[in-house]
Amino acid sequence: MTRICIIGGALQGMEAVLLARAAGYHTVVMDRKPTAPALSLCDEPVVMDPLKDRDGALKVFSSCDAVIPACEEMELLKFLDSVKDTMGVPLLFDLAAYNISNSKLRSNEIMASVGVPLPQPYPHCGFPVIVKPSSQSSSIGVSVAYNESDVEKGLEIVRSLNDKPVIQEFVHGKSVSIEVIGNGSTARSYVTTEVCLDSNYDCKMVKCNPSIMSEEDCILLGRIGKDVAESIGLKALMDVEAILTPKGLRVLEIDARIPSQTPAAIQAATGINILEELMTTAIGKPADRVSTGGSSVYRHVIFKDGELRSSGEHIFGSVREPRFEPGLFGCDNSITDYEPGKKEWRATLITRGNDEEDADRRAAACIQRILDECSIEEFLDGTPEMI
Ligand SMILES: Nc1ncnc2c1ncn2[C@@H]1O[C@H](COP(=O)(O)OP(=O)(O)O)[C@@H](O)[C@H]1O
Ligand SMILES: [Mg+2]
Repeated sequence: MTRICIIGGALQGMEAVLLARAAGYHTVVMDRKPTAPALSLCDEPVVMDPLKDRDGALKVFSSCDAVIPACEEMELLKFLDSVKDTMGVPLLFDLAAYNISNSKLRSNEIMASVGVPLPQPYPHCGFPVIVKPSSQSSSIGVSVAYNESDVEKGLEIVRSLNDKPVIQEFVHGKSVSIEVIGNGSTARSYVTTEVCLDSNYDCKMVKCNPSIMSEEDCILLGRIGKDVAESIGLKALMDVEAILTPKGLRVLEIDARIPSQTPAAIQAATGINILEELMTTAIGKPADRVSTGGSSVYRHVIFKDGELRSSGEHIFGSVREPRFEPGLFGCDNSITDYEPGKKEWRATLITRGNDEEDADRRAAACIQRILDECSIEEFLDGTPEMI
């Protein structure tokens, strides 16, 4: 059986375990924190800090068929990159591409040079604008500015993070994303997903279905992903985040690492497994699964203080000792610490359907069952305030 070592047991690690199991792999998760949630989901938890016990970690790596970092700790990523030629198994990560994607200034420059449509840079656009740090993630330090004095405040936030600013047109529309896998010379784009945000601009739900946007726009986003990946010589996985505005797609950023949430939604909807593709591409034999053409809804919920709410992935990330539970409240699969009668619990609920409507209906039925079975009045489903 193929063994995969996943380094990091938080959100990306849980995603990697879900995908690896769906591909039929034996999963080893390594994290220095014994409370990391992916440890309870995998086949073989290893509590170890690869930076402190390098020999021990290398021994674990070489007992596997591939190693994938599921974390964004630069020192650890650099260490993994430095041992990739000695550990004897593929490292499913591209540090050079990660370094490019880690700088929005640098990646925007590269994307502009290959003709990717980006939000207009300030001051060539009207207000409102977005002021964001070049090298952070998870919406840290992002602010909206309606005038020059707001821009100054935004710049102050970026300076306090010791970072450089990106100031650009605030674009409105559906948030979409696509994964791209490259082998160092050619790249392939996969499936478009829609990313839905909660009131804190954190991702609470991902939808995968053929009606997210027109076929033309899906082809265009795929083309953009492939062009960018090939221009940076991507030798692993990245995702492209964009907004579908009334004037067309505008790309917000690329991230060259395993994302959380979107691949699980794609796997549930289409049967295409991004981790399996990454693994098989690394050995020169892409799995090339054909989409089964279905739809899915992937969402996080939290029950706390007697209320059931949609939850952003970061709130979900504090789940303790979760397990997979297919069928929970009628979903197809879940990651959860739910127990009947428990005062506080979290769940990621994944539902499939033949089309968008069917997947939506089944996702809503799942929420209704939680309300009925746990005697909860209503589901509080936050959305971002409109700008
Ligand atoms: N130009 C923009 N117009 C509208 N919203 C934006 C823009 N840039 C960023 N955002 C919002 O801020 C979030 C974080 O920005 P992003 O560029 O994805 O950086 P990161 O995810 O690395 O923090 C996006 O998901 C989006 O909601
Ligand atoms: Mg982002």
